Amino acid sequence: MDIAVVGSNMVDLISYINRMPREGETVEAPDFRMGCGGKGANQAIAASRMGSEVLMVTRVGNDMFADNTIRNFAENGIDTKFVMRTDATSGVAPIFVDPQSRNSIIIVKGANALLTPGDVERAKAQIAECKLIVMQLEIPLETVYATIRLGNELGIPILLNPAPADPSLSLEQVKNVEFIVPNESELSLLTGMPVESEEDIRAAGQVLTHSGIPNVIVTLGSRGALWISEAGEQLIEGTSDRAVDTTGAGDAFIGCFSHCWTQTGDIAESIRKANIYAGDAVTKRGTQTSYATAKELNLD
Ligand code: RIB
Ligand code: NA
Repeated sequence: MDIAVVGSNMVDLISYINRMPREGETVEAPDFRMGCGGKGANQAIAASRMGSEVLMVTRVGNDMFADNTIRNFAENGIDTKFVMRTDATSGVAPIFVDPQSRNSIIIVKGANALLTPGDVERAKAQIAECKLIVMQLEIPLETVYATIRLGNELGIPILLNPAPADPSLSLEQVKNVEFIVPNESELSLLTGMPVESEEDIRAAGQVLTHSGIPNVIVTLGSRGALWISEAGEQLIEGTSDRAVDTTGAGDAFIGCFSHCWTQTGDIAESIRKANIYAGDAVTKRGTQTSYATAKELNLD
């Protein structure tokens, strides 16, 4: 096993809209796609398509979405031993993408809200075989914190994607991770600092490195990513193909980065490849449906 993802899965219900309805109004939208999503699952699938062996620790519900999600993990070569069925609804995400490719997302966590520290503890022996633990914030914070402690105990580095932004996340509880990968608004919420300029972003990122997190990687959309460490900063520019759907682009970045870093340990080069990978995903509709294999992008 290369990577353990302890996180969420959702079924994405994506409507491609001309505009959002106002209260009490019904509008027609030209197109719709359903696909497997959820930040945890997306990152797992991206890493797996890049070539990593991935263990997924997650909870699905007891509905038809669950069957679909489990089949999708299996078809993508993900280890589903710890994909647990729960007496709840599966996580779902109604998503709205406008003609400018901007998205609005509602998440209904469902079974994801029931993933406990005990669930992660049960997967300890398998997690112990991995080179990296990857997490996001669509599961209970207490499970995130407990998994960080478990990773620290096992000596396995952790990558935390603090998304979606959660005002109750405690920096103190997450400072023992190897990588934190926020976007600009998540960085701002985490540090209470503005992120209007690149100078602002650097200063906010430094607050995180000073708190003890060795590597802060701020994803900047089509501008690429800024890597901040005690050694300095590096802006690694993104690719700028025409975006049609940016949903899940951050997850594509993290999945690809996690794969590349566990293979080589080269952070700058892994970010460069992750930019290319995410830059490709935004040119196609959907989240996981838009994730390429390493071969398709000549990234192996
Ligand atoms: O990051 C994109 C993801 O966020 C979507 O797949 C949706 O499920 C939400 O979790
Ligand atoms: Na996409």
